Amino acid sequence: METHTSGFGSGFGFGFGSGFLDDPEKPLPPPPPPPSVEVLPSQVSSNVEYNVEPVDLDGLTLLKGRVSTKQVFGLSNSDLIPGKYEGGLKLWEGSLDLVKTLSSEIQSGQLSLTGKRVLELGCGHGLPGIFACLKGAGAVHFQDFNAEVLQCLTIPNVDANIQKNLSATGDSNSAEVRFFASDWNEAHLILPHVPADDSGTISGQTQAAGYDIILMAETVYSISTLPSLYKLIKKCLRSPHGVVYLAAKKHYFGVGGGSRRFISIVEKDGVLAASLVSEVTDGSSNVREVWKLHFR
Ligand SMILES: C[S@@+](CC[C@H](N)C(=O)[O-])C[C@H]1O[C@@H](n2cnc3c(N)ncnc32)[C@H](O)[C@@H]1O
Repeated sequence: METHTSGFGSGFGFGFGSGFLDDPEKPLPPPPPPPSVEVLPSQVSSNVEYNVEPVDLDGLTLLKGRVSTKQVFGLSNSDLIPGKYEGGLKLWEGSLDLVKTLSSEIQSGQLSLTGKRVLELGCGHGLPGIFACLKGAGAVHFQDFNAEVLQCLTIPNVDANIQKNLSATGDSNSAEVRFFASDWNEAHLILPHVPADDSGTISGQTQAAGYDIILMAETVYSISTLPSLYKLIKKCLRSPHGVVYLAAKKHYFGVGGGSRRFISIVEKDGVLAASLVSEVTDGSSNVREVWKLHFR
């Protein structure tokens, strides 16, 4: 099983829209984000090869698909092109940390997913959201920057895991499962249950709507996207009992983001409180963390 373990410094490509070749003094603005769309399960891609393999998560086995970045985007496997392709085809370590943490939170009675409305932001493979489906969530919505990631990877992954669970347990999944491609700047316009006003505040409407649980892994690497991601979370999270679980590296060397940088935005704003749930130190300098956010 292959997960993407490096920091972002070596993995970044600057092939599109950097403007460095045009005029080093005046870099071009980033390309416009892809359009915000709901991707239907029937829009699953049949043109890209999808191979499935098991992932062992401390005794729980989930399935993960593998597709070629070259086939989907015409890029080599190490490329991540800001504003164009944001790394969703790789399985990042944080998503495995997040599933393990959710599992131990359930075991210790800190968390129940049964009947909950769950949103996974920056889903890629979607393993945390898939885990929520298997643990009885009422609705699980998956968001990724790229529709291609949802079509070629997330949807087949959700199907494979639900099918496996059906064969093993006879349980059919009853969660409402939906898929949304959008930049975080615009995602509130297409996510159901989320008020489309642009205030970014916790409104009365949000209290009756929104999501009970927001999951995200390895989404806080780029400093420039942290404010829009935080604003989106505040729009989406159901008050007063909504909870966010965030898995990330403490720092992303070379790009400047990280869990601590994001948590400092959260703490400065003061609406949500943050607590560290788990820390993974595997001997490298890149410590990984899982944080939990809830309303003060
Ligand atoms: C490093 S990948 C992590 C994928 C997956 N969560 C995992 O851990 O394997 C970052 C994810 O965040 C999403 N993402 C990054 N920047 C984004 C943005 N500005 N708007 C929306 N999604 C974004 C990408 O689609 C991508 O799936």
